[in-house]
Amino acid sequence: MNNQHKIYITRKIPEIAEQMLKAKGYIVEVNPKDENLSKRKLIKILKKGEYTAVLSLLTDQIDQDVCEASKGVKIFSNYATGFDNINIEEAKKMGIMVANSPAPLTPDAVAEQVIAFMFALGKKIVDGDRFIRDGKYKGWVPMLFLGSDLQNKTLGLVGGGRIGEKTAQMASALGLKIIYTDIKRNENLENNYKAEYVDSIEKLLSLSDFVSLHVPLLPSTTHLMNEKTFALMKPTAYLINTARGAVIDEVALVKALESKTIAGAGLDVFEFEPKVNSRLKKLPNTILTPHIASASVSVRNQMAEISAQNIIDCLEGRTPKYIIN
Ligand code: GLV
Ligand code: GLV
Repeated sequence: MNNQHKIYITRKIPEIAEQMLKAKGYIVEVNPKDENLSKRKLIKILKKGEYTAVLSLLTDQIDQDVCEASKGVKIFSNYATGFDNINIEEAKKMGIMVANSPAPLTPDAVAEQVIAFMFALGKKIVDGDRFIRDGKYKGWVPMLFLGSDLQNKTLGLVGGGRIGEKTAQMASALGLKIIYTDIKRNENLENNYKAEYVDSIEKLLSLSDFVSLHVPLLPSTTHLMNEKTFALMKPTAYLINTARGAVIDEVALVKALESKTIAGAGLDVFEFEPKVNSRLKKLPNTILTPHIASASVSVRNQMAEISAQNIIDCLEGRTPKYIIN
């Protein structure tokens, strides 16, 4: 049977992906362990040359070695919006397509996470909760946990793509003023949410009360936030990262927080995931979540459908809608 394609899924994802692939008559194998595959194990599996498609995760490091071991593989369909885990050039050299799965609802889920961080930071929700649980609450105090309002504050978006735009929509409804910077302008953002374009990140950082990162991880965005750029932020400002950890120099961030160069941070991603800097964990007004900004049932189902459809399109000779290379 020429349809007996064999697909490897590197870790359990919502059922719908497997169902769609099986409905096409493909054989589907899922990593039986609910844990991330090491590069060494992935190479061992792919070297067998049995698989025509791989449904990969953002935790899979698909570098030159993995690409070279991927005999017979036609596509890496990444279950993520980001694809910095894949060496696109090496895949291309091996004739392997790469696709991602930017679900229609991903921007909504991520924007909600940003807004949740803004409220939680401004209102010191997490510190307040910890304070009570630690037995420190002795009654109402005039100067206890004074926070920051969102009304009339300025939200600076670093990146005005789909997620930046959704965040602007929600934040403008809450009464924030929106400014953004990007390599290209986004007219929707400017026309619909009165977002003001600023032509440099330096200017954006100096004007913002909240800074939210919405750029992919590229050589040009690695350590975009560093000792120099932190120094440009207001001491009352908060930094939010739902993009990729390495957009921030984490050592510089810890220093900026410890020295009160900035007021706090909301972080869903970390430079050395899953390792989280132990000093970050000790800081007040720093809220840490385990890379869950897109973790809603609806988004993860959409991502599963898209990543399966990318594979089906590729194997049936069509160009996948979300092809990268
Ligand atoms: C999550 O981080 C994604 O890229 O989808
Ligand atoms: C991310 O920025 C996306 O477009 O999904």
